[in-house]
Amino acid sequence: MLLQKKFYSYLRREYFLLGQCLSFLHKHAYSIMRKIIITIDGFSSCGKSTLAKQLATKLNYVFIDSGAMYRAVTLYFLRNHVDWTNKDQVEEALKLIDLKFEYNSEAGKSDIYLNEENVEYVIRDLVVAEKVSEVAAVKEVREYAVAAQQLMGKRKGIVMDGRDIGTAVFPDAELKLFMTADPLVRVERRYKELFEKNPLVQIDEVKHNIEMRDYIDSNREFSPLRQAADAIVIDNSFISPDEQLKMAMDLAKERIKMAQQVEQRQSS
Ligand code: DC
Repeated sequence: MLLQKKFYSYLRREYFLLGQCLSFLHKHAYSIMRKIIITIDGFSSCGKSTLAKQLATKLNYVFIDSGAMYRAVTLYFLRNHVDWTNKDQVEEALKLIDLKFEYNSEAGKSDIYLNEENVEYVIRDLVVAEKVSEVAAVKEVREYAVAAQQLMGKRKGIVMDGRDIGTAVFPDAELKLFMTADPLVRVERRYKELFEKNPLVQIDEVKHNIEMRDYIDSNREFSPLRQAADAIVIDNSFISPDEQLKMAMDLAKERIKMAQQVEQRQSS
């Protein structure tokens, strides 16, 4: 009887350990496999960041919201009265800006820090949103942000969303997605998001801001918003977030497999 008990407890422990090993392998499977770069570009309020964050979590990759960098620079310029139409002022100000991302376990993603201050919340304000496209169109600002973004992707294993990630930042990325959605759906989504923070926000104001940002982002001189020739379009106007994630995950798995095969061929 005692022997039987001991045997069962031994089995339970072994099963527990096996379960732990399997869950570890499941969680880290994509970290062990060949890593790739995934870029997600598209218009404002298309849900790029949501998808990027979900993909990064599933793949155990780093998620970088490149728009947050342009927003943080805009916040600095506004606070310090930097005239972004003046090249010298911009260059001087950029020397004083330190941006970094730090993982926030509660949010399940990284927060952006501007000179050691967590500005993740304040950069989402309409005051910043109204000026960010103008600041993001400045050549020196783009050079500064793109150089930092390319450094972050050096070791691959990254999902980055923005406007020029598949065209200018990582033109050789293994998977490029381009997201789009019906303009009215986008306005409603953004309105709901802002309303939670500020119930006084007006839907017309949100609509105008989205239209203006689309226009400036698509028509600026330096790296305007474009769909990369090899990008895959996802229109999420009428599909559920789960369907969208499945679509993107299937593509990511396929591209990881392809990258792995290329690597094996090269090493044999
Ligand atoms: O993704 P977002 O709405 O947070 O981006 C804020 C602004 O920054 C947006 O107007 C376009 C600009 N942007 C850009 O020009 N290039 C990027 N890679 C990301 C954002």
